Amino acid sequence: MLRLCVVFICLLYGVKTDPQEACPAFTALSFGNALIGTDLKVKLLLYTRQNPTCAEELHSRASEYLNVTKKTTFIIHGYRLTGSAPVWIPDLVHLLLSVEDMNVIVVDWNHGATTLIYSYASRKCKRVAEILKKLIDEMLIDGASLDSIHMIGVSLGAHISGFVGQMFDGTLGRITGLDPAGPLYRGMAPSERLDPTDAQFVDVIHSDTDGLGYGEALGHIDFYPNGGTDQPGCPLTIFSGLQYFKCDHQRSVFLFLSSLTQSCNITTYPCDSYRNYRNGKCTSCESFWPKPCPILGYYAYEWKSSLTQQSHPVTSMFFDTADKEPFCIYHYLVDIVTWNKNTRRGTLSIMLADEDGRKAESKVNPPQLCRYDLVLTENTQKTFKPIPC
Ligand SMILES: *[C@@H]1O[C@H](CO)[C@@H](O)[C@H](O)[C@H]1NC(C)=O
Ligand SMILES: *[C@@H]1O[C@H](CO)[C@@H](O)[C@H](O)[C@H]1NC(C)=O
Repeated sequence: MLRLCVVFICLLYGVKTDPQEACPAFTALSFGNALIGTDLKVKLLLYTRQNPTCAEELHSRASEYLNVTKKTTFIIHGYRLTGSAPVWIPDLVHLLLSVEDMNVIVVDWNHGATTLIYSYASRKCKRVAEILKKLIDEMLIDGASLDSIHMIGVSLGAHISGFVGQMFDGTLGRITGLDPAGPLYRGMAPSERLDPTDAQFVDVIHSDTDGLGYGEALGHIDFYPNGGTDQPGCPLTIFSGLQYFKCDHQRSVFLFLSSLTQSCNITTYPCDSYRNYRNGKCTSCESFWPKPCPILGYYAYEWKSSLTQQSHPVTSMFFDTADKEPFCIYHYLVDIVTWNKNTRRGTLSIMLADEDGRKAESKVNPPQLCRYDLVLTENTQKTFKPIPC
């Protein structure tokens, strides 16, 4: 009862505070809102290099900052259990504006996405898509081009992007799906989820395929960090609270953010399974020749032409990452052939040294294992991953 009263007071207070905010911000709601449930209300927040920190809320075609001759990137979040604003949005806006002079539109549908019941939020996705379709139609009248529209959708937001793309018959420039939502979407027909026909180029990062994410490929290129199920550094038990549920899922977003800072590039390898990748069977990127292996994230579009030309429309990419920013690790596959078949016992020591003299050493104990993967992270942290036969 007390909690309800508190929620009520907050609501009253919220109504009373200034209706003309100086800088419109992402709607912050509380767990109380999730308990009651929220109706759909979409706020469109525009950021540009002229107003990088103070958003302009788009209401009608009259906008001070929107320049439709520039590229426009939409950021669309997903389900919100607690009503809080997604922590990664300011970083994503900032980094996008730092790499390119563009319009960044944050699609705030927190009113709608915030509910205890996931299916209520999921049901609102098509209505969000219709609102975005209307905005894009207006932008087209003002001279925008569909080619220069990029939608970055997280979780349910990925499917919303797919719905918008479908309304434009796949002519949007690009859709990036960051761990597209799995629950209620697994096994659905392509028209009911994100799929490669929704945009000229669809790239997807799958980071929680055994939880909140979607397992099968949904784009022209599908990236599966660490196999796509469990991410390093994420808690494995429920005792870690909410992090247990969202850490793997959110990792897709942090990997994408990291790709924008470009402190290092994450190289990815085409493979039919993570197991085969781990067994060193997928080290070739010949199919992308003359380009090297694709890199993860924002710059993946540089591989667009080879990916969209291939007769086989789906390419799954595998790679391992470190547990934190900048996530890049270097892989060394050590293949050992012994000549003397009679020698059975002994240890093997492998040392890797870089140009600066930093070293990583690992001892190998061969009998039970076939292959060893020596991983030297950027700060010479060594990990050694034996692979069973
Ligand atoms: C809009 O952007 C284009 C291309 O960057 C630029 O040439 C033009 O001056 C801009 N228009 C306004 C009104 O700022
Ligand atoms: C990463 O890749 C991009 C795009 O291919 C390239 O422009 C950049 O120089 C690379 N950065 C590093 C640190 O290798």
